[in-house]
Amino acid sequence: MSGMNGKVALVTGGTGGIGSAICARLAQAGCKVISTCIDETLAAEWQRSMAAAGHDVALVRCDVSSFDDCKAMGERINGEFGGVDILVNNAGITRDGTFRKMTPEQWTRVIDVNLISVFNVTRQFIDGMMNKGWGRVINISSINGQKGQFGQTNYAAAKAGMHGFTMSLAQETARKGVTVNSISPGYIGTDMVMAIAEEVRNQIIAQIPVGRLGRPEEIAALVAFLAGDDAAFITGANIAANGGQHMG
Ligand code: CAA
Repeated sequence: MSGMNGKVALVTGGTGGIGSAICARLAQAGCKVISTCIDETLAAEWQRSMAAAGHDVALVRCDVSSFDDCKAMGERINGEFGGVDILVNNAGITRDGTFRKMTPEQWTRVIDVNLISVFNVTRQFIDGMMNKGWGRVINISSINGQKGQFGQTNYAAAKAGMHGFTMSLAQETARKGVTVNSISPGYIGTDMVMAIAEEVRNQIIAQIPVGRLGRPEEIAALVAFLAGDDAAFITGANIAANGGQHMG
């Protein structure tokens, strides 16, 4: 992939299912990869297993839902690494439940971690990218931000919000060589999807034309493409990777 060797890539929630595949793919392409984490002990174990597979990933503790945490992370990374070239806003959680049963905590936590975080983190690095005249912001949204999903008013609102953010910021940064795009994965075989009750999950898989869950590596490949120089003309886009479950 052209133009990625030596670039600094920050992946929020890089220790998760899709995040791990993104970190591995960007490290393979020659990036200096940094992942945020919350639990440093668990993350250190993850870091060792990534290293054993040949992928060096630095860790920075940061609760992406906290602006203060993100500010401190920004100061540290901008100082130690000279900024971030490729930012992947990947951190996300679910707190599923029908709207009538949804608590304010379920609503707020999902909006904070999945959407407010995108402001908190991107704000720390966008000036650096624009000043350098090169940058990539890649937001991991979801099929459910495009089509909605029974039991996910909180999650779908946050994921749809990420794309509004993407289109607006893309317009503000285009002249400075910084592209901003979102990817909307469908159902990928990660712990998050495996946590759905089996019967419900099987009904969902039956609605996927390719007949299977996606693989984290299939999302990571798309991230790597958007991060490279070949994707310089793609900005403000929302690229679906959902096995045909939702089209248009
Ligand atoms: N459409 C219409 N009606 C449905 C329905 C659907 N998809 N699913 C359930 N119902 C019905 C139920 O049959 C029930 O009907 P009755 O009251 O007549 O019996 C009614 O709706 C309400 O059901 P409950 O309130 O009892 O719902 P529940 O609490 O048992 O389950 C839920 C709700 C946990 C949200 C469950 O529906 C669920 O797990 N849904 C899947 C959510 C989902 O897809 N999450 C994705 C997580 S992974 C992810 O988010 C990654 C990504 O980006 C894709």
